[in-house]
Amino acid sequence: MTNAVRTAEQSHIGQPTPRIEAHAKVTGEARYASDQIPANTVHAFLVTSAIARGRVAGFQLEQTRATPGFIDVLTHEDIGHDLKPPPPPGGQGGKTTTTLESDRIWHAGQIIAVVIGETPEAAREAAEQVRVRYIEERPAATFDSPGARTVALADGKGPHEDPKVGDAERAYTAAAIKLDARYSTPTQHHNPLELFTTTCEWRDGKLVIYEPSQWVHGLQHAVATQLGMDAADVRVVSGLVGGAFGSRGGTTHRTALIALAAKRLNRPVRLEPTRQQGFTIVTYRAETRHHIRLAAARDGRLTALLHEAWEATSRPSTYNVSGTATTARLYACPNVATKVSVTQLDRNTPGFMRAPPETPYLFPLESAMDELAYKLGMDPVELRRINDTQKEPIKGLAYTSRHMVECFDAGAKAFGWSRRNPQPASMRDGEWLVGFGCAAAAYPANVAAGSTRISLAPTGEARIQMAVHDLGTGGYTAVALVAADRLGLPVTKVTVIGGESDLPAAGLAAGSMHAATTCNAVAKACEMIRERLAGAAVGDKDSAFFGGDPALLRLQNMALVDGAGHREGLDKAVSRTGAVLEVYAENVPSGLPADAVQKIYRGEMAMARGSELKEEMRYAFGAQFLEVGVNPLTREVRVRRAVGAFAAGKIINPMTARSQLMGGMIWGISSALHEETEIDKRTARYYNNDFAEYLIPVNADIPEVDVIMIPEQDSEINELGIKGIGELGITGMNAAAANAVFHATGIRVRDLPIRIEKLLPLSA
Ligand code: MOS
Repeated sequence: MTNAVRTAEQSHIGQPTPRIEAHAKVTGEARYASDQIPANTVHAFLVTSAIARGRVAGFQLEQTRATPGFIDVLTHEDIGHDLKPPPPPGGQGGKTTTTLESDRIWHAGQIIAVVIGETPEAAREAAEQVRVRYIEERPAATFDSPGARTVALADGKGPHEDPKVGDAERAYTAAAIKLDARYSTPTQHHNPLELFTTTCEWRDGKLVIYEPSQWVHGLQHAVATQLGMDAADVRVVSGLVGGAFGSRGGTTHRTALIALAAKRLNRPVRLEPTRQQGFTIVTYRAETRHHIRLAAARDGRLTALLHEAWEATSRPSTYNVSGTATTARLYACPNVATKVSVTQLDRNTPGFMRAPPETPYLFPLESAMDELAYKLGMDPVELRRINDTQKEPIKGLAYTSRHMVECFDAGAKAFGWSRRNPQPASMRDGEWLVGFGCAAAAYPANVAAGSTRISLAPTGEARIQMAVHDLGTGGYTAVALVAADRLGLPVTKVTVIGGESDLPAAGLAAGSMHAATTCNAVAKACEMIRERLAGAAVGDKDSAFFGGDPALLRLQNMALVDGAGHREGLDKAVSRTGAVLEVYAENVPSGLPADAVQKIYRGEMAMARGSELKEEMRYAFGAQFLEVGVNPLTREVRVRRAVGAFAAGKIINPMTARSQLMGGMIWGISSALHEETEIDKRTARYYNNDFAEYLIPVNADIPEVDVIMIPEQDSEINELGIKGIGELGITGMNAAAANAVFHATGIRVRDLPIRIEKLLPLSA
């Protein structure tokens, strides 16, 4: 395959391609931010609050200072108002909590001191000698706790809108078939393998930050603002990232603290927090509650959809994900009402975690659709088909493309859905009860402005410089494929330099938008290269293309070619323009303001959200099918098969895209059946904050996962037609699992995760 001569039709785009950094990763050559340890580095260890609410009355530091290898300790008494708090995740939700700004404690596990030692061990030993006197107040841990404060977002100061249309209350009251149910999803934590490290080094008054990041320009500007510095004096080096899932999208407190420590000591300082500390010093998925009411006519058509939701957040923040933007628009329905509130608690500020809105919000809606299908005596796939729409119901905007029903059909066929006996608890395999469940998957197709610098040498070596982030997702390979495709090169000739703030800005690697952002910018730069080479060739009387139309020339197989069989090697074509041809391109996709590239250089979001455009809706869709076995004696739930069918526009690299979709599905199984960060209601402390106690699946929990990618062309969303696949795969899984468990047992679990104790009512 690799040696085959590619025709124009056989493009690199769409060819399954291993990661270009795979060899470096498996041989240990790949450099992560956590690997960067400058000479003369000293080490930090965090002291975190044992209480969730109150004040620090004082520290006893004698033992700390007496610890061998101790160098320094920073508390709010040293930092105080030197430091502004970091911006909230993605700039959303007003204020966040503060750290070392004052004696105030907002949540358990908040950083209250930073201890520096010559070695990591010395720092940790000294930190463990810190004695803290607290003034403790009673914390509110969760929704029902005394002191919890609920704020409807529409009543707040932010620009929040609860989607609604028609008169949903009236239509609900008048309906023949109704469903009224409450659901909840738990707190969850992303636990990427690479820990939340930070190393800071000052060189001639300038700050270098080594930290794994999904947004190097965001981190650069946020820390500059916190420290009152010019952003040009802050450089972020992230490189390859060992997993992120949203946890590295926002700026957290630790970075500026480590920067200040390094400045005080005039030595590089490296922080490697523990896994446990990762549960409280970064963001996480908020606990949510939902009230869904659905009404339908006897033929299954929805007549009313009401979705009210509550999300947990921190005391000073209104951070929210507001997934009703999607649930209000998934189906044709003339009467929709939604409302989102946040409940402020004595907890850390939550943030992005894989499909932040859709993962917790599609669970209640897609569970409710399944419940409604039973009430109607209708097949759940049929109910989705009947209520499918090519226009969202709130404003009547058309989806640029939507193939959800095609996904249900392809998924149902691959899964063997027709073998399902609709009667709950009717299917068995030996002693095991067997259930089939399905749910819709949906995620907006987002895109940001992007920029890149690409050089091409006469040897055909191309180099992409761009602040593209590779979180293990295949991000570098995607841009390399686009460049190879458009420049007519083997992928092995393309080098990608990414993950640093000195490079041309490419926005935030989140919201499933990074492939669309980066690949479209790279395609634009490659087109500039093609134009330059073609223009130079037609102007050269020694060229086979002299006097021709430059628009007809293409780059293919290391040569400039036309349709008539003429060919000129890249060596000659590039040399004509100089030793190396270099272009810089900025790409502003439709839906964004003209200054969007300047914004991303300033670390602002500048993102066109598929759910928020004025003229159209841009979404990727899918359908997910699960078979579960439930043991009627132990109540153990095992997933036996999983099938996901997705229509997500152009797939640049089916190999890594499949991994992304499959990874989302596996995480969805984990979300539905395993994961929950448990909080002690008296103390508002997490008590399963490590890999031993926080349940995640192992290989034996995950069966064959079948990923089907439905070909879909959408030329409206962006030049390359990319919708993004980072999050789509997880979105329907919670509900598919709950629906399968219901089908297996007749027990409807509306509160995730679905664990043994929730199936105790099952009669053996
Ligand atoms: Mo993702 S939660 O958009 O990093």
